[in-house]
Amino acid sequence: MLEIENVCKQYLKTDMSIKPIPLQVLDDVSLTIRTGEWMGLIGESGSGKSTLSRLVLGLEKVDQGKITIDGVDIATWRKENKGKMSVVFQDYTSSANPNFKVKDIIKEPLEIYGRKSIDEGIVDELLEKVGLPITMANRYPHELSGGQLQRVCIARAISTNPRFIVLDEAISSLDVSVQTQILELLDYLKESMEVTCLFIAHDLQTVTYLCDQVSFLYKGTIVEQVAVENLANLQSDYAQKLLDAVIRFDTE
Ligand SMILES: Nc1ncnc2c1ncn2[C@@H]1O[C@H](COP(=O)(O)OP(=O)(O)OP(=O)(O)O)[C@@H](O)[C@H]1O
Ligand SMILES: [Mg+2]
Repeated sequence: MLEIENVCKQYLKTDMSIKPIPLQVLDDVSLTIRTGEWMGLIGESGSGKSTLSRLVLGLEKVDQGKITIDGVDIATWRKENKGKMSVVFQDYTSSANPNFKVKDIIKEPLEIYGRKSIDEGIVDELLEKVGLPITMANRYPHELSGGQLQRVCIARAISTNPRFIVLDEAISSLDVSVQTQILELLDYLKESMEVTCLFIAHDLQTVTYLCDQVSFLYKGTIVEQVAVENLANLQSDYAQKLLDAVIRFDTE
């Protein structure tokens, strides 16, 4: 479905005293995500994960290479498939408008994408789907816990029934017990919706729980891509180091 081919992206690193230095954030990145598949993308901080997600979402343009869905350039695909690609970011506090009630946050994409009459029942349905009581519809973001607000952001992301979803560290800011609950919710959504996903994380554990494939991004390059069931046969040192860290953590 989604094809990332030989993508390069550079930023200009600005420093007050010297002239801007080019910083190669993504270098010849290629990745294929098949329909219905959940692709985990892991890599350390600064390796270029969010940059790649912004390119996939069409928020920025590639310098070289191309990104297509079903063979159609991503920008064109998005125009032709309004609302069919959505995203949940790490920072749920800044991604929900503090002046909007929960019901308006959830309905926002439907309004943006021009649904004329929005049945109020849809908000209740989405709240139920993400495990929140329907009485929360009239609350404001500051009246919710972090986990509840991230559920609202997930409800908003699925409101348009997307075909493709990007989850960029969507659970990283939550505490561990809430992370587990949100992981369970995402797993339920994976099973109940026909959605393809790019799931970005910096640890392997969440990725192995949810994803079918894992790609390892190291300093702007994909060093390895494997099916989750083949994690025992990693080739690259970097991927192996990440895996070893998880095994150590598990057995401690
Ligand atoms: N708009 C920008 N201008 C200049 N440099 C940028 C810009 N956006 C990102 N960078 C740099 O690009 C590199 C990759 O950033 P990116 O946000 O993609 O990393 P990441 O893998 O998502 O990290 P994290 O795990 O911390 O979220 C970093 O060195 C970052 O400072
Ligand atoms: Mg990031």
